[in-house]
Amino acid sequence: MTTVTSIADALQQRLAQAISTAFPDAADGDPQLRRSDRADFQANGIMGLAKPLRANPREVAARVLEHLAADEVIANLEVSGPGFINVTVTDTAILERLAARAADSRLGVHSSAEPGVTVIDYSQPNIAKEMHVGHLRSTIIGDALARTLEFAGEKVIRRNHLGDWGTQFGMLIQYLIEHPDELGDDTESTDTNPSMSRLNHLYKASRAKFDSDTDFADRSRRRVVELQAGDADTLVSWQSMVDESKVYFEAVYARLGVLLEDADAVGESYYNPMLADVCADLEASGVAVRSDGALCVFFDDIKGPDGEPTPLIVQKSDGGYGYATTDLAAIRDRVGMLGATQLLYIVDARQALHFQMVFETARRAGWLPEDVRALHLGFGTVLGKDGRPFKTRSGETVRLMGLLDEAVDRARTVVSEKSPQLASEELEERAKQVGIGAVKYADLSTSRTRDYVFDVDRMVSLTGDTGTYLQYAYARIQSILRKTPEGVAPATHQDLALEPAERALGLLLDEFGAAVNQVTGTFEPHRLCAYLHSLASTYTTFYEHCPVLKAPSREVMETRLLLCQLTGQTLRQGMDLLGIGTPERL
Ligand code: ARG
Repeated sequence: MTTVTSIADALQQRLAQAISTAFPDAADGDPQLRRSDRADFQANGIMGLAKPLRANPREVAARVLEHLAADEVIANLEVSGPGFINVTVTDTAILERLAARAADSRLGVHSSAEPGVTVIDYSQPNIAKEMHVGHLRSTIIGDALARTLEFAGEKVIRRNHLGDWGTQFGMLIQYLIEHPDELGDDTESTDTNPSMSRLNHLYKASRAKFDSDTDFADRSRRRVVELQAGDADTLVSWQSMVDESKVYFEAVYARLGVLLEDADAVGESYYNPMLADVCADLEASGVAVRSDGALCVFFDDIKGPDGEPTPLIVQKSDGGYGYATTDLAAIRDRVGMLGATQLLYIVDARQALHFQMVFETARRAGWLPEDVRALHLGFGTVLGKDGRPFKTRSGETVRLMGLLDEAVDRARTVVSEKSPQLASEELEERAKQVGIGAVKYADLSTSRTRDYVFDVDRMVSLTGDTGTYLQYAYARIQSILRKTPEGVAPATHQDLALEPAERALGLLLDEFGAAVNQVTGTFEPHRLCAYLHSLASTYTTFYEHCPVLKAPSREVMETRLLLCQLTGQTLRQGMDLLGIGTPERL
């Protein structure tokens, strides 16, 4: 493993050093280095430096330049505009880094020096219910963040907070106990997911009975009490429902290719034995108080539309616990038992108030110490083509598997048009990678908090800002690499003068680590998407201007092959962090 100091970091150090030598008393010595089309980089920080000194920024820039000189990284320096410093870097600095990155399995990217423990709560579907597009977003975003944080060196613990406990199950369990074959093998089913169709059937049948038969409704309510009391028969039925649901969830996860495993599924029921304790502690410490029989936490700044304070209810007046109590128990467990230093929740933006109240309560109770960060990473809504929240025409939630199948179908058409000769097995594999990759990229490339329109045709397009475009760029690179002539290998030749398109690609490849850091710093995967998209299009420009296999000399060919190879490696690694596959051919 060789970590590589990027050119941007090397320049940053030199400039910051020069600033503090020229102006030892200056408070803010940040050169604010950016990529620029005037030179390779531009430092914009001198203006801010000049202001408190009441000096002419151009003169301040010139003073800073006195402490900088051309070296192995810097080729040329000049003051430009009202006090910017333009920096051109040497071709050698670029070539050296390309070679070092291509030779390293981490592409030269640093791993965190002080890794923490991040618990990431994502996916969180509900037992006996179809997953909806909200769960799709949580699953895709959570998976990308988990992968990226792990790559950056963080210890990541995944928590799939399944909705597997609560009063809503009384009716289902009661029906199941009265109709024990309900979840049995249903050989007639032609559904692609028999588990979910059995559960849907159970749901419909028990709902109908609940609505028409008051005795059954009463038995169902009593069943809830038995579930909470841990009655053995009740738990057996409950468990069979959980198991059946997990078969369905796992089919979705396998289809999506996400990292969630059975061990990560720690649902709400897991915290059930801790809830009484959580409430007792909150009441004893005075964080929660009784109000109309319920145990509540109040906040000065959280009020309902009527101006009355909106409390967080941790125990209802009938003694029942709720969603908030479970989340509090989970925080205690994640910090106290798992040693979390950071808690992330990938949940619909509409739950913002819930998490605000839960985090504040946990802070007051001392379960969430100052140095442990807790963040609700909300996301926007998936919309239909009509711009309204995505629903079927009859207003039901859209079946997730159906959507994924649709994306894979469209991808199959795109792939078979490009490669009509493919054998069916191979076609299926590629269609899956393209279709699922397209869905994921469309989700991840939109800023997390924004809504987006689910449009399968656009998602699988070979051009534009799509996952398919990235996969296509990757496959084209692999095709060139396969054609490398005998006796030639990707390599850099340090004294070669680079063409502008080669420099542009080389400098961008050097920024991969910075792109990864942006995601771990902001929890916004779209920044990595934007980087990869720009990499693929910069590569296309390079390829149009710089023939690779017909290069003018062997040295040039080898250097260009290395640029191709490292672009391929970077695309593959970057897309892997997003959970998107990279087929070798398209
Ligand atoms: N199961 C919930 C739902 O479908 C989401 C759970 C979110 N996670 C949490 N720790 N509260 O809306």
